[in-house]
Amino acid sequence: MNNAMECRLEEHRISVEPFFLPRANEIEIGLAASVNHLPLLLKGPTGCGKTRFMQYLAWRLNRPLITVSCHDDLSTSDLVGRYLVKKNEAFWQDGPLTLAVRAGAICYLDEIVEARKDTTVVIHPLTDDRRELPVEKIGKLYAAPPEFMLAVSYNPGYQSVLKDLKPSTRQRFVSLSFDYPPAELEKQIVMRESGIDEKNAIQMVKLAAMTRSLKESGLAEGASTRLIIQTVMLIKAGIDTVSACRSGMIESLTDDPELLAAMDEMIFSLF
Ligand SMILES: Nc1ncnc2c1ncn2[C@@H]1O[C@H](COP(=O)(O)OP(=O)(O)O)[C@@H](O)[C@H]1O
Ligand SMILES: [Mg+2]
Repeated sequence: MNNAMECRLEEHRISVEPFFLPRANEIEIGLAASVNHLPLLLKGPTGCGKTRFMQYLAWRLNRPLITVSCHDDLSTSDLVGRYLVKKNEAFWQDGPLTLAVRAGAICYLDEIVEARKDTTVVIHPLTDDRRELPVEKIGKLYAAPPEFMLAVSYNPGYQSVLKDLKPSTRQRFVSLSFDYPPAELEKQIVMRESGIDEKNAIQMVKLAAMTRSLKESGLAEGASTRLIIQTVMLIKAGIDTVSACRSGMIESLTDDPELLAAMDEMIFSLF
C-alpha cells in the first residue's frame, strides 16, 4: 500500500467502539459473513441503525469503512475511479470501491437501488466467488483480499417494481433485515444517544410508535429512531417539548394537513 492510499484510508478508520445495540444475532451473522467472504445486504427503513451497524462491524473487524451514498447519477466511474487532470497532467484516481478492494476495507453502498444500472457490472464479479474488480480504463483486474467486504443497503419501503433489486443480484448476498427496535431497546438507544432521562425517553418512543401506526392512513414512513434522537436534542437545547416534537419529528414526516393534525393530537395526548 502506498502513502497516498494510507492517507485516504485514515479518515475511514474507526478507532472508538461505536455504540450499537443489537436486536437479535445481527452481529454474529455479520461476522460469519465476513469470515466466509460473503457480501451483506441490509434492508430496512431509514434511521433504524443500518449505518451504525456497519460502523460497529467495521470496528469489530478492525477495518476501514468506506461508505458511498448512492444516487441516481452514480455511475461505474464514481465507484471504480477516473482520470483527473492536475497541472495539465492526467492521473488516475481510484474510486471508493477500488480503494476498498485494494486496501482490504469494507465498502458500504448505501441505498444501492438508487445507483445507475451499469454499476452492477462491477459489483457482480465482486459478490460471487471470483471476488475480483475489473478496472477497464486502466486495464487492471484486482483480486479482492480476504479482508475486503462488500455491504449494500436498501429501503424496501421506497421500492418501485422497476427499481427493485434483481434476483440475480440479491441472491448473492447474506441478508439482514433491520427495523425499528422494540420499545424497550429503542428507549435504551435514545437514552444512551441523547442523555435524556428514562421517563421522557419512554414518552418519545411512544410518540414515534404512534406515528408509525399512521402508515395505514397514508403516512409514507413513521418517525425513525434517528428522528426521536433529533427531537430530544431540541428539547435538551431548551425548546419546549411540543414545539420540539413538531419541528423535530412530525413536520419532517409529512406536509399533509390531516396527518399533521392527527400527529398533533398524539403529542397532546402524551405531553
Ligand atoms: N441498534 C442501534 N444501536 C445504537 N444506535 C442506534 C441503533 N439503531 C439506531 N440507532 C441510532 O439511530 C441513528 C440512526 O441510525 P442509522 O444507523 O444512521 O440509520 P440508517 O443507516 O438505518 O438510516 C444512529 O445515529 C443512532 O443514534
Ligand atoms: Mg444510513
